[in-house]
Amino acid sequence: MEITLALLKPHVLRNTFALNQIKTLIGNNFEVLEAKEVQITKELSERFYAEHKGKFFYHRLTSFMNSGPCYALILQAEAGIQKWRQLMGPTKVFQAVYTEPQSIRGMYGLSDTRNACHGSDSKASALREISIIFPEYNMEKEKLHP
Ligand code: CMP
Repeated sequence: MEITLALLKPHVLRNTFALNQIKTLIGNNFEVLEAKEVQITKELSERFYAEHKGKFFYHRLTSFMNSGPCYALILQAEAGIQKWRQLMGPTKVFQAVYTEPQSIRGMYGLSDTRNACHGSDSKASALREISIIFPEYNMEKEKLHP
């Protein structure tokens, strides 16, 4: 079993139909260990996306993530990281729309920044990202068996 962090980005929270559809998809594919609506501050967003600092889209991305509440989840499944990334589809929305139109980003992505959702890209990222968004979550088990 593997855990991952999923974030549904601010524009998805304003779209009740999309939000409900994605929650159903998640419920059918994962055990949801934690879920909450969270207002990501600019500071938190900059910490979360620190690896992108200096890239042309960094300020756009961190401002967008701060523009309204996100919905954050800790998901668990066999190969959970890859499974969630598969459901999300490609990061770039034009690619998602043309190659995986049924993916979450294919359906609800508006641009590369407003690409509907985020998912951890490795076990190490999952632990780091969960500790930022869910500082209250007890990760001792996952640290022993990452
Ligand atoms: P996410 O999964 O949240 O992780 C990093 C984010 O950076 C990514 O989704 C996109 O929203 C954003 N991103 C990556 N590449 C680009 C790009 N070329 N232009 C704008 N935003 C990007």
